[in-house]
Amino acid sequence: MSLKKISKDQPKNFQFSENSLKAANNIVKNYPKGKQQSAVMALLYIAQKQNNNWIPLSAMKYVAKFLNMPYIKVYEVATFYSMYNLSPVGEYFVQVCTTTPCMIRGAYKLVEACKEKISESENTLSQSGKCSWMEVECLGACVNAPMMQINDDYYEDLDKEKTLKILDKILKGDKPKPGSYRGRINNEPENNRKTLLEYKNA
Ligand code: FES
Repeated sequence: MSLKKISKDQPKNFQFSENSLKAANNIVKNYPKGKQQSAVMALLYIAQKQNNNWIPLSAMKYVAKFLNMPYIKVYEVATFYSMYNLSPVGEYFVQVCTTTPCMIRGAYKLVEACKEKISESENTLSQSGKCSWMEVECLGACVNAPMMQINDDYYEDLDKEKTLKILDKILKGDKPKPGSYRGRINNEPENNRKTLLEYKNA
């Protein structure tokens, strides 16, 4: 897992758009009086969505002011969680899970594919500027390991060859089909097995 890369190119100002403001107010009102700071993660996520999928320092300051909390506390949250990007990412943002279940099922083959097709180092835009990748911690789809997330979609049950094909498609501007690449529906057992007994007799 790499350290967060904070962009040197920082916009001076940030403020919520009308839609973001509405979404932020809706979230903040769910918290009891005096506990609004607990909305910090959701508000950072809204800021990230608004700003082409990354959070500039000015957005952290804006969120801190919005929630009436110290900037350093917002900074700590934004720099801790891998779901927040602190430098520009590609239009196609590839996150490869390399936590243990994915790792033992071959996640580093997916990393190899990203290095070959996108860029040698993570958090670096591809030559076309369309795509970037990074390693992340568990994305909660371990039963379909190894897997990666591209923007809002999960691509599961992968190997290097399948990953290369998916990356070729996104680099051409196509949208590959998300889900299992071993033909499973969601995370159903393979070969229609329903019990461990069936597994034993298979
Ligand atoms: S370990 Fe990769 S999704 Fe959980």
